[in-house]
This record gives sequence, C-alpha cells and structure tokens, in this order.
Amino acid sequence: MTTPDAPTLLDARCAGHDWRVLPAFLPLPGMGGLAINAFLHKGREPVLVDTGLAALGDDFLAALEAEIDLADLRWIWLSHTDADHIGNLARVLDRAPQAKVVTNFLGMGKMGLLGLDVSRVHLLEPGARLKLPDRELVPLRPPYYDAPETLGFLDTRSRAFFAADSFGALLPQPAESVEAIEPTTLRDGLVTWSALDAPWLATADRDALGRTLTALERLAPATVLSGHLPVAENGVATLTALVHDAWCAAPMAAVDPHAIETVAEALG
Ligand SMILES: [Fe+2]
Ligand SMILES: [Fe+2]
Repeated sequence: MTTPDAPTLLDARCAGHDWRVLPAFLPLPGMGGLAINAFLHKGREPVLVDTGLAALGDDFLAALEAEIDLADLRWIWLSHTDADHIGNLARVLDRAPQAKVVTNFLGMGKMGLLGLDVSRVHLLEPGARLKLPDRELVPLRPPYYDAPETLGFLDTRSRAFFAADSFGALLPQPAESVEAIEPTTLRDGLVTWSALDAPWLATADRDALGRTLTALERLAPATVLSGHLPVAENGVATLTALVHDAWCAAPMAAVDPHAIETVAEALG
C-alpha cells in the first residue's frame, strides 16, 4: 500500500469478533503517518466509538451510513475529547437522534467548553459499566494516554479491548492489521509515537507501569482496538512487550529540553 499525501479514509472492515473499524490515515510530514480509527458495534443497541477527523467528515459520514442507519444508533462512546477523536461528533448527533454520548464528568465538562451539546450525555460514574442487551462495556484506563478523561473499555462478550490512544504507532503507510507490520517498523513507530503523545512516560514509575502492563496481559483481551494502530487480532502481549521494553526496562537516554534540570543547567 502506498503512503497517502493527505488525510484519507480507508475501507471499513472487520475488527475482531463483532466489531467494525472505520479506519483513516493521517500523513505527518517527515514521520510517515498515523492511523485514526473509529469503531462500530452493530448489535441491538449499536455503539460508535469515536467519530473520526473533521477534515474527512463527508467521507466518514458516508462510510458510517453505509454500515448502519444512524436513526438506530444508540451510543457514542467517547475515548476523550481530542480533535482527532471527536471531529464529527456534532454531525453524527444531528443525524442520530436516539444516540447518547458516553463519557465521564471531565469529558462532559470539556465537551461543554468546546460548545458541544451536553444534553445527550450518558454520564459514566466511577465504577459504572455500559450495559448493552448482550454484553457490557467495562470502562478501563489504558496504560498511557494524553487526556485525563480518557476511557477505554473491555467488551465482556467479544473480549475486544478498546485502548484509546495507547499503542498508537507512526507507520510508513496504512496496514490492515498489526500482524501485517514488519516487527522493527512496529516497534520504532510505537516507541516514537508514545514518546510524543505521552512524554510523561519518561518519568513514570517503571514498576507501576510494568504492573499495569502485566495486569492487562492477564485480562487477555482477544483483540486490541487502538485509535492509532491497525487492529491487533492476536491479543495484547506483543504490544505490552514493546511498551515494557521501551519504558520499563532501561533508563531513558534522551534529554528532555523542557525538564526543570535542563533549564536550570542552561541558566547556570
Ligand atoms: Fe489523544
Ligand atoms: Fe488520539
């Protein structure tokens, strides 16, 4: 597959047991590009997870409406309120009169600050789950993230894990699945993107991060749905191992130009 030179919507396809991915690819000059994924579950109460890039709004809505009658959409799960995840939220809400936005208190507050309609928010209190007719979506904090309202989930029926921004990777071109990416390319892209998107990983408690990764492996999700990575169809272990090796094993060699110590040194 060639590298697109503009944001591009890709074909929707299966994402594990009974989820669909609506994938896009955002080129980043000099760095390859980044997957921008939304996900759809077409059950009795359909769920859309995130709403894509505003720049691809017409294409995104057409792709979504090819999958589902938006009059039937019941839930829009917001991973967080970054622009690459809520780009078409208002347009989807306009066309989906039954849909409620699933988020937490901070997510709702940020929606209000952005001028978005909060009257259709379904507020998830701490510890609450989203109950669907045949499964629950259990909110789950991914191992790293870039906005404190971030909510991933584990689907109790399909055992798909939605990881929000976690495990995102810069890639030279779009790929159909994690398994189709050359291992070194995956490692380099994941480590570079995690350093950009979650720079606090460099100063995180490595043991605590390692325990979180191990706990995630024990949950044993069947599929990993990341907002910024092709779908991982063979579970989470490959991804947690890459994060562990990058951020838990060795001291960071790179100097953060914005760290207090570096600034103090520069000031003498
Ligand atoms: Fe984000
Ligand atoms: Fe993101």
